Amino acid sequence: MIVRIPNVLTAEELATVRERLAKASWVDGRVTAGHQGAKVKANLQLAEDSSDARELGAVVLRGLERNALFMSAVLPRHVYPPMFNKYEPGMNFGTHIDGAIRQIGVTPQRIRTDVSATLFLNAPEDYDGGELLVEDTYGAHSVKLPAGDMVIYPATSLHRVTPVTKGARVASFFWVQSLVKDDGERSLLFDLDRAITELGQTVPGESAAMLRLTASYHNLVRKWTGM
Ligand code: NI
Repeated sequence: MIVRIPNVLTAEELATVRERLAKASWVDGRVTAGHQGAKVKANLQLAEDSSDARELGAVVLRGLERNALFMSAVLPRHVYPPMFNKYEPGMNFGTHIDGAIRQIGVTPQRIRTDVSATLFLNAPEDYDGGELLVEDTYGAHSVKLPAGDMVIYPATSLHRVTPVTKGARVASFFWVQSLVKDDGERSLLFDLDRAITELGQTVPGESAAMLRLTASYHNLVRKWTGM
């Protein structure tokens, strides 16, 4: 499933992140690409071990931790330290698949990438092109969101970023290993959780049916959690 998660960062956080990124030094994005990705990737990134990446990544992680929609849709187990990229005119990232396993920096820790995330850091009006196109069986879905909004999509999807022709596209991107590996199971849980929340808001008081629905949600999480 592809889900839009609005307002991951506050206006104040966005301003802080953008101000710092404006002064940051960027490296060739191919440093973190695999064999196939490197052939089609043309963008800039913050070096993963730079203090800018670490400190701005912490701002993004704080935004995720307080976001109920992210928690419900992704059921995160491990979040890869957020990275940052920039596409200037002529830059793009051709169709590719994100690697299944990623090592976290120089640590021995590895995560399985179940969910891919892109957090848009500048306004769609700031650049032409730069759409994220995510493919599924129904075709390619084009995503270009306001600053501070994020999209999450199955890391199993082929995807690409179309060429930027004017201005610059700045974003944070990362992967999540979910408690629930399978996208179909995760989608069902997300749907059920949303329905329970909506019912709770519209039906006053406690009910036995609500209790059973809530129990079913938790028991499905137990059943499908791969840990
Ligand atoms: Ni990718």
